[in-house]
Amino acid sequence: MVAVAILAAGRGTRMKSNLPKVLHSLAGRSLVERVLDSCKVIDPEKIFAIVGYQADLVKETLAGYPKLEFVEQTEQLGTGHAVQQLLPHLKDFKGDLIVLNGDVPLLRGASIAKLLSTHQTYQNAATILTANVPNPQGYGRVFCNEQNQVRHIVEDKDCTPAQRRNRRINAGVYCFNWPQLAEILPKLTTNNQQKEYYLTDVVKYASPVMAAEVQDYLEISGINDRKQLSSAHQILQMRIKQAWMEAGVTMIDPDSITIDDTVRLESDTIIEPQTHLRGNTAIASGCRIGPGSLIENSAIGANSTVMYSVVTDSCVGENTRIGPYSHLRGKVEVGQSCRIGNFVELKKSTIGNNTNIAHLSYLGDATLGDRVNIGAGTITANYDGFNKHHTQIGDRTKTGANSVLVAPVTLKEDVTVAAGTVVTEDVNEDALVISRPPQIIKKGWRPRNLSK
Ligand code: UD1
Ligand code: CA
Repeated sequence: MVAVAILAAGRGTRMKSNLPKVLHSLAGRSLVERVLDSCKVIDPEKIFAIVGYQADLVKETLAGYPKLEFVEQTEQLGTGHAVQQLLPHLKDFKGDLIVLNGDVPLLRGASIAKLLSTHQTYQNAATILTANVPNPQGYGRVFCNEQNQVRHIVEDKDCTPAQRRNRRINAGVYCFNWPQLAEILPKLTTNNQQKEYYLTDVVKYASPVMAAEVQDYLEISGINDRKQLSSAHQILQMRIKQAWMEAGVTMIDPDSITIDDTVRLESDTIIEPQTHLRGNTAIASGCRIGPGSLIENSAIGANSTVMYSVVTDSCVGENTRIGPYSHLRGKVEVGQSCRIGNFVELKKSTIGNNTNIAHLSYLGDATLGDRVNIGAGTITANYDGFNKHHTQIGDRTKTGANSVLVAPVTLKEDVTVAAGTVVTEDVNEDALVISRPPQIIKKGWRPRNLSK
């Protein structure tokens, strides 16, 4: 039997933020959600999140997480005190407890599984994940004997200059035999520089305590301040992009690209520089995305291109060209083989197949059929100051340059709208609609003040 506890009660003073540290986001997901996800592989019986600072906000973020129970630590008196809060909740529990700091978001599930299996193989009282890092500043230092048994963990602030030179650090990831830990927790004291109950002091009373080295020390990067948040971001981005390149995605200048780990890509897609893919986004094979594009919560069909454009909450079909400088937002659905061109904004609209909106248009709350051609500068006037209204455009209809479609309005199939027309009434199929005043030419006229 295994239970997991995630320590997420601290404010994270060093972040200088009103948001609890564990809710800061890393490539689309909060730190604590990442920690929760990392322990999925071991499929624990119970999962506890210890919450305190802005507990309601943390609970709200994690609501609906399977098996998750919240335990309140009303005063944050240290990591040892945080784990003490579990005592009433695990009274008859006889298994192992894995404790994870809520601010160590890059840990791989496999590393937790390995820690657990080492712990169980050796029947340790406690097993502590450690790493040798180039810069141990800020971390607790772990001191072991020749048998790899932990003698002490000394917090950075409590270290002597000699101790501080030890580069073996405590990752903040532990596995404990719970019945033994339950006996020890009440013995912790605050006899240290920070006047806190340190969970790390458990090693003074438990035996045997073994250190387990993590393979990739980058995994255990803790986030205490914004600089560490940004390095974690870089580490995560490197991981995500390398995995996609291995899966057959080309990236031109990967350093300038960011991709959330919730994004799905298919092989033979090319991601060009300065492109950012976020949230629930899926890009099919053979696409060319970028340069300079932002795609969020959207799906792009195979063999499409998106250049210098922003696409959010939308869906684009196959073989469609978006951009340069298009903006699709608020549930736009574009069909196959379309062209959405320069300086075109589409909002909450459905566009059929083989339809072109090539230049300088705004279409909002519109439904367009197949093979429609929207002339340069066509605008839907969809808002009357109070409500949004719908525009319907049938198959093969063409609008001339600079036409205004005043919604609600329907143009049926095969309608032609002359350039400069303001359409205010519905138009049936096979018709020309023209509303501009006839052109007047006065021959031989010139301004009075100009002499002949
Ligand atoms: C801790 C370890 C240190 C280790 C480092 C790894 C202790 C005493 N020190 O230090 O040895 O190298 O993590 O990243 O454990 N928290 C609570 N309640 C509290 C205090 C903290 O829930 O009362 C939570 C925080 O929200 C955070 C985690 O525990 O998620 C770690 O706390 P933090 O203050 O960041 O500990 P470190 O000083 O980094
Ligand atoms: Ca920390």
